[in-house]
Amino acid sequence: MMKNLLDDIEEILLMGPGPSCVPPEVYNALSCKTLGHLDPYFIKIMNEIQELLQKIFNTKNKLTLPISGTGSSGMETCLVNLIESQDPVLILINGVFGVRMVEVATRLGAQVDKIEFEWGKPIDIEKVKTKLEEKPYKILAAVHAETSTGVRNPIGEIAKIIKGTDILFLIDTVTSLGGIEVKIDEWGVDAVYSGTQKCLSVPPGLAPVSFSDRAFSVISTRKSKVPNWYLDMSLIGQYWSGERKRVYHHTAPINMLYALYQGLLLIVEEGFDNVFKRHMENHLKLKEGLEGLGLNMYVEEPYRLPMLNAVTIPEGIDDVKVRSTLLNDFKIEIGGGLGPLAGKIWRIGLMGHTARPENVDRLLEGLEKALK
Ligand SMILES: Cc1ncc(COP(=O)(O)O)c(C=O)c1O
Repeated sequence: MMKNLLDDIEEILLMGPGPSCVPPEVYNALSCKTLGHLDPYFIKIMNEIQELLQKIFNTKNKLTLPISGTGSSGMETCLVNLIESQDPVLILINGVFGVRMVEVATRLGAQVDKIEFEWGKPIDIEKVKTKLEEKPYKILAAVHAETSTGVRNPIGEIAKIIKGTDILFLIDTVTSLGGIEVKIDEWGVDAVYSGTQKCLSVPPGLAPVSFSDRAFSVISTRKSKVPNWYLDMSLIGQYWSGERKRVYHHTAPINMLYALYQGLLLIVEEGFDNVFKRHMENHLKLKEGLEGLGLNMYVEEPYRLPMLNAVTIPEGIDDVKVRSTLLNDFKIEIGGGLGPLAGKIWRIGLMGHTARPENVDRLLEGLEKALK
């Protein structure tokens, strides 16, 4: 008999930058019986998923649905549907995911301009205002919660600058959705994407997106076809809407959609405000404990994310050794720094189901021993 590797998977406390811990209800949802992707009962579940996503995104956008793929497929969907060759696009960068947006938009033939800010600091509104005076951009894109640094960008403030203009506002909420408030309609966001594996406490595999009516009309009146068939919203939209008649596009990842449905239900049942409060309380508990161990937060307080805690690695401490001790001896995963922050910070996630006091205690205990 061949050995089944799945038998030996250990339970790891996922306290890195994602994926986060998955609650038992969501694991159960994954193992529910698979239905056909056009089964009327499955379509009921799809409708509910859309309603739940509208609630969590704070939007009435009809075109709100999960894309089949991880967070990056959400990024790709937003950009590939809105960009046509030579479109002027402005991307604000203060971490890895702003850089990734530039990569995707450039491949689509956009004229990409960028403003770069120091990693670990938030986007500076004044610089954005000045840059916007240079030319009439079609799209302005930014990351709400920059997972690579632990910074919360001032999306509400950026939104105010472009309110009333023709510029389409595109944001990344992969790490923020379900951990802090995301207000798509109030901010006037035209395209947003997220991912399941962070504060929604669902395994990686889906990317909720939402497009405003204005964004949809831009997509509908494109001069060229969306260059990526799989992510073309006008085709995917026909599978996700309509009372009875649904048009097959690709076979939906049925069980992952059950998991998303269950993950969203858990959040709604707990109540959004309670969920956000739980993230904040556990973040404050972690911060206090870290300071007790002589460690400092990398990001300053006003724009620090509760669900992604960047911690400065003290001089003389071996980054990789501490992380591997935590993983091997304590079964806890935390993240290292990326790009210019590699070796300089640890990234401790308190996302979704991970954000619990017992997990914070377990990490602090393990970290204290690993540091010795
Ligand atoms: C802010 C942000 N955007 C995009 C992504 C990409 O998501 P994925 O790795 O699921 O494709 C991530 C993943 O960590 C992220 O944190």
